[in-house]
Amino acid sequence: MRQILNFNTEWLFCALDEPRIKHKDFKDVHFEEVHLPHTNKLVPHHYFSEKDYQFVSWYRRHFEVPADWTGKSLIVEFDGVMSAAEIYVNGASVGEHQGGYTSFSFEISKWVVIGESNVINVRVDSTCRPDIPPEGRLVDYMLFGGIYRNVRLIVTSSVYIEWASYAWKDVTSQEASMDGIFRINNRGEARTFMLHTSLLNSEGDVVEKVTTTIAAEVGESEVGQMTMKVDNPHLWDIDDPYLYVVRTTLCDMGEERFEHDDLTTRVGIRSAEFRKDGRFYLNGNPLKLRGLNRHQMFPYLGGAMCERGQRKDADILKEELGLNFVRSSHYPADPSFLDRCDEIGLLVFEELPGWQYIGDVQWKNKALLQLEEMIVRDRNHPSIFLWGVRINESQDDTEFYLRTNALAHELDPSRATGGVRAIHGSEFLEDVFTYNDFTRNREGKILQPNHSPYLITEYMGHMYPTKSYDSVERQIKHALGHAQIQNGQYGVPHVAGAAGWCAFDYNTHQDFGSGDRICYHGVCDIFRLPKFAGYFYRSQMEPGKQPVVFIARYLIPSFNEDFRDVVPVFTNCEEADLFVNGVKVASERPDYVNYPSLPHPPIMFTGCSWWEWGSSLLTSLKVVGKIGGVAAAEHELFPVGMPDQLAMLADDLELIADGADCTRVVVALQDSKGQTLQLAHHAVSFHVEGPGRLIGENPFSLEAGRGAVYIQAARTPGIIRCIANVKGVMVAEVVIRSEVLQAQIVPIPQRTKQLY
Ligand code: GAL
Repeated sequence: MRQILNFNTEWLFCALDEPRIKHKDFKDVHFEEVHLPHTNKLVPHHYFSEKDYQFVSWYRRHFEVPADWTGKSLIVEFDGVMSAAEIYVNGASVGEHQGGYTSFSFEISKWVVIGESNVINVRVDSTCRPDIPPEGRLVDYMLFGGIYRNVRLIVTSSVYIEWASYAWKDVTSQEASMDGIFRINNRGEARTFMLHTSLLNSEGDVVEKVTTTIAAEVGESEVGQMTMKVDNPHLWDIDDPYLYVVRTTLCDMGEERFEHDDLTTRVGIRSAEFRKDGRFYLNGNPLKLRGLNRHQMFPYLGGAMCERGQRKDADILKEELGLNFVRSSHYPADPSFLDRCDEIGLLVFEELPGWQYIGDVQWKNKALLQLEEMIVRDRNHPSIFLWGVRINESQDDTEFYLRTNALAHELDPSRATGGVRAIHGSEFLEDVFTYNDFTRNREGKILQPNHSPYLITEYMGHMYPTKSYDSVERQIKHALGHAQIQNGQYGVPHVAGAAGWCAFDYNTHQDFGSGDRICYHGVCDIFRLPKFAGYFYRSQMEPGKQPVVFIARYLIPSFNEDFRDVVPVFTNCEEADLFVNGVKVASERPDYVNYPSLPHPPIMFTGCSWWEWGSSLLTSLKVVGKIGGVAAAEHELFPVGMPDQLAMLADDLELIADGADCTRVVVALQDSKGQTLQLAHHAVSFHVEGPGRLIGENPFSLEAGRGAVYIQAARTPGIIRCIANVKGVMVAEVVIRSEVLQAQIVPIPQRTKQLY
């Protein structure tokens, strides 16, 4: 039966391109020990160059092959190596993979020596590769380098299941049917095998079982099919993301007990379709899509964020920003991000790698291959509702896009395709017209749809970049710009939805952004901390999930030209009361005049010039949101005070001692009332004790009074203390426990262990 082993730990890294490294006996004593996911270069969060990580490096891992793996298939699977990887086992070339955003695997059994020490080497080319999508021309995001996602070793029989696809159709709450397709790889004898496919509910009970047969020649990959019917399925939905497990077992004919391989895949039963009326329907119910685009980049680590951080991003998008969908711009996401989207009910529009540029025939073939790799890897995720099969904002190319559409439909007949474009009149070959609408964003408007179904895939972004420490006026305008466009899309029923550009600020090249290598296009900063616009999105979630009240101002004396006497409040409450110094001065309802279509228009208290904003007599400004006449949430502002305390919060207090697991630690300089001081750029110094290290700048200069670093666990478990201070006076501490890695890891030979 299949064993899936952790192959992330105890790698050796060399930041030089030295071809002799591939040899088994290369002296690697001076290599740096690293653990995956790994970035080839830690960078500051801004002001650095892409040249810093654009180099070739080598990764090397010694491993043992125990005697009981004799005759087995050993499959090494990489989730992502940027941008090209050459794999060598014991000096022999196993293969090459090009493209940093898709997973790939190699069967390596014929190169390993049983019972001995073996070595796998990976030459990682992170230079700019114009021959590999998305590159070819300058791209508005950094690619970063390294083996930056997980690696695992699958140990299974000489005949095994390469992949399985489970596509649901005719889904209702009474019944659903599933078309299963499998690819079997047979390195053993030619024969006919049996495949048992079971559907297990969340309690682990088998609810359906189907058996089918498949004949496989030696050395061949064979594709088999099956169907399954399910009565009264528990449907996957955004509010109830119920997951089943499909377990497929590959056995010899007649001898059910001899099982060669088994594959366990999480699935969700749901229908997701765009209909002729232009709307999107989930399980037959119309759902207006409200989303943001997400780049996978993180400060310091580039793309090399561990599973925990990937999953946290999904949580932020769903729980903190109240979205029902995310566009995985402009490439396939880390598998753990998608897993989390399945678990929490966040829909995903995933697209092939690319940005505005289409290369030559070879380049296009590589793009097609990456599209195939993406769909084969990800088609069982219930969260994915749409495939992007057009290079983001590229020109028309009929022949190429007929091929990408046909390939997507062939690999996954159950999902629609979209093709993100910036030209309204461009050729429409997909199922959904997906359009980046930047045309009249400054007026808060969108274009009328020219096709159906129609999904707006970007807006705002470079039209109004806003930093978390920009003026209050700009922050309010930025947030209201997002609000106006969402209002616009909600107002047109046959617009299926809209995703703003973008969720998080991200690192970019010299030709884009603000000169410091950041595009400040996010509704959150690069640390994932919300700007005012982030609170606008949060306020659109249903109050039953979380009532929201956020006053989009600070209590500061400076007069604000555009919003001088306005107190904007982002809320999902039905009405709100405004209190000044504890005395109620006004009650207001959502602004249905200017935002008639939003689920939850902001509440704008106007005419608030009856007190001096800067007066020392003004001691508190409070808004209480009410639902059904009852107070549901409140937000209170006080005159901004002096730095008084350093707040520090870790997302997690427990880590796994695998050398890569890390958690974000947010710091904020606050006044005595706990208000973060928006103009504080003070330096925060960190000190870490115990088996962990700081990932980040030290000292770190606050932005908008806040920021974040990461604490990464070492390989030894224990207690990690992170102590921070500002000027040695304001001190804060977090204590994190790191625990033993429970997963089974690929064994390390005794001899090489001593080398480290
Ligand atoms: C779009 C592009 C995005 C990003 C955005 C900035 O044209 O698709 O990747 O560059 O502009 O607003």
